[in-house]
Amino acid sequence: MCGIVGYVGPKQAYDYLIEGLFRLEYRGYDSAGVALQDGSKISIRKKTGRVSQLADLCKLLPIHGTSGIGHTRWATHGEPSDTNSHPHTGGNGEVVLVHNGVIENYSILRDRLRELGYVFRTATDTEVAAHLVAHQLEEAVKLGDDPFEAETCVRAVESAVRQIKGTYGLAVMFRDVPGLLIATRFGSPLVVGMGRGEYFLASDASPLVGHTKEIVYLNDHETAVIKADSFVLRHQDGSAPALSIRALEQTSRDTDLGEFDHYMLKEIFEQPQTIENALRGRLDDEEATAKFGGLNLDPQSLGRIDRIVLTACGTSWHAGLVGEYLIEEFARIPVEVEYASELRYRNPPMADRTMIFAITQSGETADTLAALRECKRKGHPTLAICNTVGSTIAREADGGIYLHAGPEIGVASTKAFTSQVTVLTLLALLLGRMRHLSHPAGKRMISQLREMPDKIRQALKCFDAVKDVARKYYTAENFLYLGRLYNFPVALEGALKLKEISYIHSEGYPAAEMKHGPIALVDEDTPSVFIAPRCEIYPKVMSNLEEVKARKGPVIAIACEGDDKIAELADDVIYVPDVDEYLQPLVTSIPLQLLAYQIAIYRGCNVDRPRNLAKSVTVE
Ligand code: F6R
Repeated sequence: MCGIVGYVGPKQAYDYLIEGLFRLEYRGYDSAGVALQDGSKISIRKKTGRVSQLADLCKLLPIHGTSGIGHTRWATHGEPSDTNSHPHTGGNGEVVLVHNGVIENYSILRDRLRELGYVFRTATDTEVAAHLVAHQLEEAVKLGDDPFEAETCVRAVESAVRQIKGTYGLAVMFRDVPGLLIATRFGSPLVVGMGRGEYFLASDASPLVGHTKEIVYLNDHETAVIKADSFVLRHQDGSAPALSIRALEQTSRDTDLGEFDHYMLKEIFEQPQTIENALRGRLDDEEATAKFGGLNLDPQSLGRIDRIVLTACGTSWHAGLVGEYLIEEFARIPVEVEYASELRYRNPPMADRTMIFAITQSGETADTLAALRECKRKGHPTLAICNTVGSTIAREADGGIYLHAGPEIGVASTKAFTSQVTVLTLLALLLGRMRHLSHPAGKRMISQLREMPDKIRQALKCFDAVKDVARKYYTAENFLYLGRLYNFPVALEGALKLKEISYIHSEGYPAAEMKHGPIALVDEDTPSVFIAPRCEIYPKVMSNLEEVKARKGPVIAIACEGDDKIAELADDVIYVPDVDEYLQPLVTSIPLQLLAYQIAIYRGCNVDRPRNLAKSVTVE
């Protein structure tokens, strides 16, 4: 949430900043802004709306400077407006900064600073940070420190953040110290790109692609002191952490739209490949099991686990629900799936041999990170199922499994979901083979998993049928999504996809639960999407479907190829390839992703930038 960029070097900073903001726009698009230091002053341009509007403003009113910072905002405190947009200034303009996170004690700090004479012009929590740094600077100068010295500025930032309660990723510039950029974090990600005689800053690695191959992730409480010819890392406790330089793995192809109109569609169509990536090198034919390189657990420890907690938010939580069914079925280990936002504050009894998996695409979700830390604090082994290499959760977990799905840029998560489900299937296979699952059963799973990329390819062929269905129903104001067993989480996920990008009210339920309340919503204008591929309880799902039909509710069925019977009952059928029940979420989620996409397109919604949302929810 909120994107940050920064640059110090010999070139005009604006080009990197604006390009970086375009790449980071998926983190927030309420407003955008840049500040550039030209050697004698700092100029600021900021604008409500998209980065393109900021770029237009900067064409009209160009700014110059070889160091600068930029920000794309997802509003927390203060409505989206030009005034509330970042960068913000502190004091009399001697400090300029951008911020990602939430300053929880901002009203106490604001009152204190007001009493000291600081004038607040915005409704943001960030302005508090700007004035606080300015105040610390003023105090230091009173004590005889030199305001033109970088060290004085660094100390001012460090003293300021010590007073902040909450989360922050901050990039700070000083009017009187040209060419100095200070970045510091707690709870909000920041990464520095190493150039030759120049440095790049960003809140995730995507702006750095094409500029550098070497990156350094900041850890909590670390401060980066950046000048064109030097980059020093220091800890707020006074120590000097070693620089851990990593290779940047992302490429520009990962972030290009290619032939697609939207990232969401591109990512939906990438799924045959991303599932193949999730499987690559992880199938052990000889032992009929799965293998993972990064679990950092010996087989004895894995074998001893007698309970698993999967924790996540949103779509990743839905993947966790599929994981629960998979692990309980194949490994017979009890699993609980916890909303990370609840788990972080609950204190559920957890026996010693409980293992925690945090499932997260971004690896930065604030609640998931907090839940992971809480479980770690209590001494449980914590593992991450994560897409973003080098993200905070990936680094803080004891071990983990990467999805290798490539950057997911569309705000609505698609390919990450199917990759998470694939990895959880592999995990169920591994844990199952360590317990009750037979060699032939393991072999069978492996060969079925190998077929999945092709099955997804076939499932994607339903797009034309989906378009017809979308055209018929896109004006509906309510939708129900119903499925049972492995397809119940898919129903939840289908409903989430639709509501987040088309703003249609939609709810997912286990199909049989409908009679206990939601059936009251059924009428001629409320379509019900039944996820009804062949399964053990197919006849029961058909009865649920009949119940909706009897109340004149339109029915869209997601069914297996060759199921002609369902076409007699449902108003519309979208077919997917027939696979074993435990693999069905991988194919049945495809038409639901496409349906949400196409309905949103027909309604004229911006699918990659849905209102009020942002990718990577780094605030609580
Ligand atoms: C929905 C969506 C969100 C995320 C959730 C968790 O399409 O994208 O619900 O799934 O914010 O994000 P990660 O997986 O990055 O922790």
